Amino acid sequence: MADNDVDHSAANRQLREAQIVADSRLALDGGNPVRQEPWPTYDRGAVCVHPDDEAAALRAIRSHLYFRYDYRPAHETECAQFEAQLCRYFECKHALATSSGTTALALAIMAAGIEPGSLIACPGFTFAATPSAIILAGCQPFLVDVDENLHLDVADLRSRWTPEVKAIMVVHMRGFAGDMAALINFADEMGVPVFEDAVPALGAELDGRKLGTFGLAGAFSTQSDKALNSGEGGFLLTDDSSLFARATVLSGAYEGRLRRHFPDGEPPIATDLDLPLLSFRMDEIRAALLRAELDRLPIRLAAFRRNYDYVATALADIAGMHIRRPVAPGAYLGEAFIFLVPVGAAQWFARALCHEGIEARNLGSDADTNIRAFWNWRFMFPGMETAAIKELLPNATRYLQRAVDIPLSSTLSEADCDQLVAAVRKVVGALATTTDEGASSAWAGHR
Ligand SMILES: Cc1ncc(COP(=O)(O)O)c(C=O)c1O
Repeated sequence: MADNDVDHSAANRQLREAQIVADSRLALDGGNPVRQEPWPTYDRGAVCVHPDDEAAALRAIRSHLYFRYDYRPAHETECAQFEAQLCRYFECKHALATSSGTTALALAIMAAGIEPGSLIACPGFTFAATPSAIILAGCQPFLVDVDENLHLDVADLRSRWTPEVKAIMVVHMRGFAGDMAALINFADEMGVPVFEDAVPALGAELDGRKLGTFGLAGAFSTQSDKALNSGEGGFLLTDDSSLFARATVLSGAYEGRLRRHFPDGEPPIATDLDLPLLSFRMDEIRAALLRAELDRLPIRLAAFRRNYDYVATALADIAGMHIRRPVAPGAYLGEAFIFLVPVGAAQWFARALCHEGIEARNLGSDADTNIRAFWNWRFMFPGMETAAIKELLPNATRYLQRAVDIPLSSTLSEADCDQLVAAVRKVVGALATTTDEGASSAWAGHR
């Protein structure tokens, strides 16, 4: 792009911002907010569901055949067709539709034969479902620190390592890929498998390969907040046929139903009677809905990417604000915009944005119990004080305390993105004059 093009776009953006921000006084201080309508999020219905998706779900409802293992040949069922479609889309050997992302994660661990009671490493920044799934599989979460970009820190994992750790669970949190090359090298050195919690990154890629296909198995959710939405649901991907067979039995394939998952030969396990049945299956109605949504997934992914890149580019020049960096160019989904501001300013910053009509949370806020911050996983730390829990992972604590998190629905319009950009700039501009001295001096000290 020529220099004067850059000038033009910057000038245009400033003009648009001036039009959007009618009142430079913060809404927090009684000024007019940038935006009046609620910020679009999935729980307010801001999801992509096309009439064709609804028709597909209705087709399944009207069939009255809701159980995946009925009299029909497997290839006629919605679940088996969804799984076949997933294998093509992700270029992997096996897919198993499940009742949720949490159950897909637990199935991966159990089916890999990780001994109950083993430690499984996972980052201190993830949804509480990750350590919960490890517990569901009979193991214990072993927490690892994160770096400034909120990725699992492989150097920290190495420094904490103990031989009781029998697997690593990487999480592509908020859609950003973990450093898979470094993690897989390290896991190989230690002789343990890597599982991927790819729940927040459905469809995102790292170096041209889909997340969730790097490790021994990858788990995904299709809960409403995700790139595929069936309200609840999930799936597991793997190239390991034995793991897949065991996961399928555990999920509830009894009395020979496992054979339906191996149409070209016998399943690679001798019997399905050695494993308990946990009823983690998906039903036909969800699978029908998801099949239709998967056809349109590329459109949804392009919308995530377009919105994220628009916002991140427009805010890249703000001193004092660190926008989360991907491990490789383009290695993110774009479902959330996360940036770090100086300690002491983040809580105020998120509150000011909310008053401007943009939904924002300080991930490590004291005023909140954000379930993505490890110190709120009290089920892991009975009887411990919060301050002592935070000391276990000092970097995750510090970075989450500085992090502001804004959900970016794929339904956002350019006008929504412009309002977000204008609101962030308005809040930054007001830092110099805000009466919150803590926030303004924290910002001034780190510029
Ligand atoms: C990182 C992560 N892992 C696992 C899950 C669990 O998925 P589900 O709600 O489908 O069980 C979630 C849910 O949002 C998540 O964000």
